[in-house]
Amino acid sequence: MDGKDSIYSLFQPTFGNRPEQYIGRDGVIEQFMAGLREPVGSRNRCTLFLGQRGMGKTALLLELNDLAQKTGYVVARVTAHEGMSAAIIEQFQLNGAQYFEDEKRKVTGVTAGALGFSFGLTFSEAAERQYGFRAKMSLLCDKLAEKGKGALILIDEVRTSAAMREVAASYQELVGDRKNIAIAMAGLPHAVSGVLNDSVLTFLNRATKVELGVISTQLIRAYYERAFRSVGIVISDELLDRAAAATRGFPYLMQLIGYYVVQYTGEEGTVTDAIMTKVELSAMKDMEDNVFKPILAPLSDNDRVFLRALARCGGTATTAKLQAKLGRKGPAIQPYRKRLIEAGVIEAPRRGELVFAVPYLSDYMLEQE
Ligand SMILES: Nc1ncnc2c1ncn2[C@@H]1O[C@H](COP(=O)(O)OP(=O)(O)O)[C@@H](O)[C@H]1O
Ligand SMILES: [Mg+2]
Repeated sequence: MDGKDSIYSLFQPTFGNRPEQYIGRDGVIEQFMAGLREPVGSRNRCTLFLGQRGMGKTALLLELNDLAQKTGYVVARVTAHEGMSAAIIEQFQLNGAQYFEDEKRKVTGVTAGALGFSFGLTFSEAAERQYGFRAKMSLLCDKLAEKGKGALILIDEVRTSAAMREVAASYQELVGDRKNIAIAMAGLPHAVSGVLNDSVLTFLNRATKVELGVISTQLIRAYYERAFRSVGIVISDELLDRAAAATRGFPYLMQLIGYYVVQYTGEEGTVTDAIMTKVELSAMKDMEDNVFKPILAPLSDNDRVFLRALARCGGTATTAKLQAKLGRKGPAIQPYRKRLIEAGVIEAPRRGELVFAVPYLSDYMLEQE
């Protein structure tokens, strides 16, 4: 890190940005990258990452984007929306263009429209007009293969939709045609829950599902140490422990705490207990506004009653203990348990046991009483 400009860009507690330093998730990344080395159609080449807001889904896709590019893939990265198939095609054309620079120069207008391209990755007029997503992707895959490149589609904020249906169906057909294609998607836990027997749901459920969890606080501590030192911030071992532990491994909170330490300490300053307390309060306020509230907003009153009971059990309880807490007149546990697990609000790490899936949500539920 050098100069004053960079000190405040060290940590960026926002969503969807590329972190200054990507921390952890080696296993998850390696599994996906290994999939790219496996034959077309292998399961790890179609992966779905699930996680709550702030767990680092978008950051992971950005990281995979860079890594895949370095290993021979042209990448199209989109956020799911109705026009996404056109956006995917465009992204491949834009990001793949660099490999066809030479062809661009010798455009004459007589090049073979039969192959579907007028030059480089630009479709002929006829192909542009007549072909749909699948045919265009097929042509693009062949063209990229000529340069030894594969095609990787990254879809963020995935959910079931008509546009996703088209992409899913085409992906399966392209795999059937042995095209060198792979796909990684990311979404909220409930992206794969649904009552309808939808073809997209089936596709998502067949993908290799990876539930993103927290990252190691050891790695976060080591990163904090390097990062703070790089801007001359002095911090004791105890406060470094405290800062790392306070993140509980939640990526957004890691950014928040790092950010406020820098804000409140300043370049070459010394972190004190008082500063750390202020940092924790500010970070928690942001967690409340940007994580807890959005998670709780779509839930029913009874869901909240359920969650408060779990919080009163210390944030972890067996189903039996929870039922006792709720009393016999309280809502029956099973339907809430199922729904809240699907929504990624709670988890069942062991049979019969329930815990909150997001750090500090338990404390927040208690404060709301
Ligand atoms: N592995 C990571 N290393 C460093 N920062 C991360 C990591 N994962 C996420 N972040 C940061 O945490 C914040 C939230 O991540 P983001 O990917 O936007 O979450 P999501 O898409 O799951 O809501 C962002 O500021 C992001 O840069
Ligand atoms: Mg995101």
